[in-house]
Formats: sequence, C-alpha cells, structure tokens
Amino acid sequence: MAEKSGMQLWGGRFAQSTDPRMWALNASIMTDRRLAFHDIRGSQAWVRALQRAGVLTAEEAETLQSGLEAVAAEFAEGQFVFAPTDEDIHTAVERRLRELVGDVAGKLHTGRSRNDQVATDFRLWMLDAIAALDAAIADLQAALLTRAEADFGALLPGYTHLHQAQPILLSHWWLAHFWPLARDRERLAQARERTAVLPLGAAALAGTAYPIDRQALAADLGFRTVTPNSIDAVSDRDFAAEFLFAAALLGVHLSRLAEGVILFSSAEFGFLTLSDAFSTGSSLMPQKKNPDAFELARGKSGALIGALTGLLATLKGLPSAYDKDLQEDKAPVFRAFDDLMALLPVLADALRTLGIHRERMADAVSAATLATDLADHLVKQGVPFREAHHIVGRLVQQAEAQGVGLDALPLEIYQAEHPAFTPDALASLLSPQASLAQRAVEGGTAPEAVQAQIAKAKEALRMRNVKNCE
Ligand code: ARG
Repeated sequence: MAEKSGMQLWGGRFAQSTDPRMWALNASIMTDRRLAFHDIRGSQAWVRALQRAGVLTAEEAETLQSGLEAVAAEFAEGQFVFAPTDEDIHTAVERRLRELVGDVAGKLHTGRSRNDQVATDFRLWMLDAIAALDAAIADLQAALLTRAEADFGALLPGYTHLHQAQPILLSHWWLAHFWPLARDRERLAQARERTAVLPLGAAALAGTAYPIDRQALAADLGFRTVTPNSIDAVSDRDFAAEFLFAAALLGVHLSRLAEGVILFSSAEFGFLTLSDAFSTGSSLMPQKKNPDAFELARGKSGALIGALTGLLATLKGLPSAYDKDLQEDKAPVFRAFDDLMALLPVLADALRTLGIHRERMADAVSAATLATDLADHLVKQGVPFREAHHIVGRLVQQAEAQGVGLDALPLEIYQAEHPAFTPDALASLLSPQASLAQRAVEGGTAPEAVQAQIAKAKEALRMRNVKNCE
C-alpha cells in the first residue's frame, strides 16, 4: 500500500509513503497467513506473560484475550477480511484486534518484536507440522507392513546394479522400504526437540526490557525450554533447515520406493499391477495406464532437495540477528510439507490396492541367481570360497556357451568340475526356495527371518506411535 497508514506497524519515522512495488515485494502475507492460529496462540501467551510481569492490568489482559479469541474465531469461520495494509500475519492480527478492542490493542506488542514473534510462530507451526507428517509416514509404513504380510511367500529376483543377483522374498523387499521411513521418523522426532525451544523474549535482538518469566512462557506454549542467546534466537532457522533435510531425505526414500514400483509394474517386469484408482491415462494412447503417483513421488523429491539447498543458501553469510532474507524461510518449508502431505496418503493407498503376480515373479528368477549357493555348497565340502567361486564361474560360462540355465547344464559337466555336485545335491541346490532358506541370519531373506522382521516392524510401528502420542 502506498498510503501512509495508521495501521502500518512502523510508519512513525517515515515522511514519504512506500512505493507500491516496494510494498508488494516486502509483504509476506500471502505466505505467512497460514500462521494465523499460531500467531494468535503466541500473542495470547504473551499477554499472560505481560500480565504476570505487571505490564498489563488484569482488565487489559482480559480485553486483549477476548479480542484475540474473536480474531481466531473469524479465521476459523473463514470470516477474516484482510486489509490492504496487512503486510504480514502479525500486522493483520494486530490491526483486526485494534478494530475490535480499540487502543488497548497497542499494548500487545510491548517488549516484543516481530523478529522473536515470527520465529516463535514458525516454530509453533512446525511442531504441529512434524506431528502431522509423522502420522502420514506411519500410515505409509503400515501400508508396507500390510503388503509384507499379505504377500508373504512370494519370491522374485533380488537386483543389484539392476541385474539379477539372488532370490528374495517380496515381503523382504517391501520391508526394505519400511526401515528408511522409521529412520525418517526418528530424525523428525530429534528435529522436534530442537524446534521446541522458545525464542520469544529475545525481542528485536537484545532481549526484552520487561521482566518476563521466559521459562513460564515456554511452558505455557508447550516449548521444552528457552533460547539461551537473544541474537541467536531471532536468526536461528536451523529447525527449518533440519525439517527440510528430513523432508528431502524422506523424499529420496519415497523416490527409490517409487522407482522400484514403476519398474516392477512395467510390461517387461510384470510383477505388479497398479489399481485404476491410483493410475492415470494418456490423452493420446488409449492403452496407457501410467504410474503417476509414483512418478510424482520421484519428481517431487527433486523439489524437496531444492527446498533444502535453497534455504541453506539463504542462511549462508547472513550478518548478525534478523535480516529480511529470513522472510524467505517459510515458502520452501510450506511447499515441502504440502507436497509430502499430498503424496504420502496417495502412496500408502496405491500400495494397499496394487495387485501382485506371484507366478510371473517366481518365473523371472533365473537359475544363475543360485550360483552363490552352488559355491557355498562346495565351501561346505571344504573348498576355499575363492576356488569355489572360480569353479562355479566356469559352470556359468559353460551354461552361457550352451545357451541354457545352470539348472539345465548336464550332470557330467558339474561332475567334471567337482564330484560334490551329486544329482541329489544339485536337486536340492537348484531351487530359489533352497537359496532363501539358507539366509536365515537376522535381517536375511529366509522366510522365518522375514517373519521375525515383520514382528520387529510391527513393534517399531507400535512403539513409535505410542511415543508420539505421549
Ligand atoms: N514477515 C516477517 C518475516 O516473515 C516478520 C518479521 C519482520 N521483522 C522485521 N523487522 N521487519 O520474517
């Protein structure tokens, strides 16, 4: 707004009005309006703190509280009308408060700056965001766990370098995507601890000049403790960067899961079929059913990484305390949060509703994936592993030369390489089930090890959900 207005929070020392383009550039209301409830909660706690400090009378405090309540109600009902002078959410709330309760509204900002106010609001928002994101990740974990249980027994080739390596259980593969999410939730819980530190009371940068009990204020707002340095308090956005790192790494995990599902649902693999509800079509090719949910997971992870690097670049090289650069902190965080909250429930239900093709997966397991088991068999007969590796390597070479699988190579060739390759031994060795059964180590793909892992995953999900509800 070009007009010099009484509603502007900082007009006093200015003789000229603000250029409208400067106003538009500077205003952050379109972004920070979503902090409305957190701003009001922060202000209500500040009123109580001012009253405890003897700065506000009980009557003034009461007026401000009911006024702030009324402003919150307007937001809740979608009735709040923004004014052209509303530079940011802090200005908007205070402007409306003044309209409702009169000049006493001017006492609300006593001993406080928008610098400590915005840092407080953003942290309050983030505490809620972390809780919501955690619940959405937990639901995706639950979907993976359900798949692991429902698909138990299905086996497929395990890949390294995207080439067939060894047979695995599909349940083991699903759970390989469960545990990274468990770590994401741990990371968010740790970031939460550092977010729950109250900056309010730091004022502009040097600390408020009023006798505010900051610890009481922190407890009132649900923070663990208070920031130990007022300059750091108004400039610290580590909590936002940590949140974005957790979001970016979560995005990387989702992207890798997505890539696997996309590949496995292609005609060439044919292991999975996505449900219609979570696929989309092509405007040109009538036959197409595209895995867009998973492609968007892969795609959005790029923007999540960008949000993190963007914020880090904004923070780097900032001089002391608050600088307006910091106003650029919220948009990337909001976008990251919104993207993930749109993505996670879709991925969870897309996983719940996809179909698997057990036979096709089992048929895809080439006998070559059993080569390690042949070598291990020789090792059990006392052959050093390195030698066994060479022997089986020669068998693979001969099978390739004859254009057959290891399971179709004549017995004489096996026997010529090593007498321990008896018909009985080969019969039991050359099956994917036998290969799985060998890997009963904790964390391995043998059926009983995967059963134990499922139990562990259930426990991890239950524990963390309980912890986060405390
Ligand atoms: N809109 C600002 C932000 O988001 C609020 C803090 C403004 N502080 C200031 N000194 N102008 O960062």
